[in-house]
Amino acid sequence: MLNRSGHCSSSHSPLSSTSSLEMSFPYKSVLVIGATAGIGLALAERMIENGIFVIGVGRRQSRLDEFISKHGSDKAAGSQFDITNLDGIKSWAENIVATYPSIDAVVLNSGIQRALDFTDPASIDLSLVQRELTTNYTSYISLITHLLPQLRSQAPKPTALLAITSGLALIPIPRVPNYCATKSALHSLCWSLRTQLYNHEGSKHIRVIEIAPPAVQTELHTQQGLDQFGMPLEKFTDEVWERLNKGDVEIVVGRNRAQWESVEGARRKIYDDVLPAFGFKPASL
Ligand SMILES: NC(=O)c1ccc[n+]([C@@H]2O[C@H](COP(=O)([O-])OP(=O)(O)OC[C@H]3O[C@@H](n4cnc5c(N)ncnc54)[C@H](OP(=O)(O)O)[C@@H]3O)[C@@H](O)[C@H]2O)c1
Repeated sequence: MLNRSGHCSSSHSPLSSTSSLEMSFPYKSVLVIGATAGIGLALAERMIENGIFVIGVGRRQSRLDEFISKHGSDKAAGSQFDITNLDGIKSWAENIVATYPSIDAVVLNSGIQRALDFTDPASIDLSLVQRELTTNYTSYISLITHLLPQLRSQAPKPTALLAITSGLALIPIPRVPNYCATKSALHSLCWSLRTQLYNHEGSKHIRVIEIAPPAVQTELHTQQGLDQFGMPLEKFTDEVWERLNKGDVEIVVGRNRAQWESVEGARRKIYDDVLPAFGFKPASL
């Protein structure tokens, strides 16, 4: 497993052995995109419990209002925004960093999942397919582009971009082919982005942290009629929080972890070997 400095972390200590003294998630003002439900909300609340100010983003204003009133405006803020509004991302991002100039980490978490059946082409709504691609991937390119200047501006203080991919980035399930492809794309982007930033003097303080969940019990599944599907959200959040505080930068959770390592260990070696030919040092050096 890669850690913050890109080195392998072999520590697998149980959650209970991580004392608060060992915690090292250094960010103090975090923009969580997709904080009105599920994984984004759980991570946002875990951060608040640990003294971090969180600006939550989502389309549902009532959920953002609940989030702020639950935690108080000294600990939480909200911004209603639909990330599929690609033309609006630049001005929204400029406004958010002007309002919260201390933002030092961004969690790219919003995502949707839709079934897609190519054996019944008439059932395919291409506008929904496009929406899934825009939500889970294309919007992220714009968000990264327009939020990176804020993270760069804080050098040499460490800052971070966190992206939520999925175990399905590596091993797709045929029920949701477009979703899996968007997660593969985001996983690939994380590798390139991490390498570019690591190799650039003005950007090397920006960590790229990928979190790849297994199935977790959230609205992603209940929206599709799947109740109690996957790992309990709190258990997932405990593991992610522990690993974030250890400085891991590729956080694969649950049973996927061993499978992921067996595939990605070999691929990463090839990647690291090839990089110098393109003028990059591997982040793992
Ligand atoms: N749950 C799983 O099993 C699982 C597994 C692997 C990866 N993941 C990934 O984890 C991330 C979070 O998923 P989740 O399971 O927590 O899902 P969730 O409970 O459905 O929450 C999704 C979040 O994304 C936000 N969102 C969706 N579309 C948006 C848009 N157009 N603009 C702004 N925000 C938007 C939602 O807010 P609004 O609706 O208020 O806009 C909500 O806060 C996703 O990227 C998902 O692919 C989930």
